[in-house]
Amino acid sequence: MTVIIANWKMNKGLEGSLDFAADLHNLINKKAVNCQVVLCPSFPYLYVVSKIISDGLIKLGAQDCSFKESGAYTGDVSASMLKDSGCDYVILGHSERRIYHNETSPVIKQKAEKAHLYGLTTIICVGETSLEKEKGQTFTVIEDQLKNSLPLSLSEENIIIAYEPVWAIGTGKNPSVREINKVHAHIKDFVKDFTKLHGLLLEKDVKIVYGGSVNPNNCKEILSIANVNGLLVGGASLVSEDFYNILIKA
Ligand code: PGA
Repeated sequence: MTVIIANWKMNKGLEGSLDFAADLHNLINKKAVNCQVVLCPSFPYLYVVSKIISDGLIKLGAQDCSFKESGAYTGDVSASMLKDSGCDYVILGHSERRIYHNETSPVIKQKAEKAHLYGLTTIICVGETSLEKEKGQTFTVIEDQLKNSLPLSLSEENIIIAYEPVWAIGTGKNPSVREINKVHAHIKDFVKDFTKLHGLLLEKDVKIVYGGSVNPNNCKEILSIANVNGLLVGGASLVSEDFYNILIKA
């Protein structure tokens, strides 16, 4: 099933998070959507939002987790705490974390291993910068990110790969349909080779979602691309009606 993820980043306070979750829940309750919906609020609001969406129509995700299980890691939030707070998903390795927190692919791999221990589905983000794109390095950059961040605990159920070109995030720019299709096909092939190399038998393909300036106007075209299994939405996920307008097109 297509999966559509709302990444609120560091937006919305307590009231805004609760209002959005309640509004969206009502909208979906009245008219069902044909996709799996995942909301990713900030850490402090996960638990309260989980109470509003506890019937499972909407799933909950966090935007990061610790690479350690527990202990003296001030400021970190563990995978088990996320599970306790009602999460089923966690976004890992978003470019904003790679850039502002110097997160590297090996650390993202450790985070994913911890998340899998607690039954969370990891949404692992990869993507090239504009400079890397200009230099024709898109595939090599993504291959390197995947090779070093995919954990051997991966299965078709516990991992989603998000292709998010860094230059398309929050800029209003998108790759062409052809470009998205080419990169997603490449990721799909890479994952097949990777799992084969490591003796992992997957019965289905891993889901690959696209993120970067998705909005209610361009979502249908992006979702119609063969190798696109869903969307990771930032700015356009902040208003419940806009986000619902994306969901109903899936
Ligand atoms: P955007 O962000 O939709 O605002 O471009 C997407 C993301 O960073 O996940």
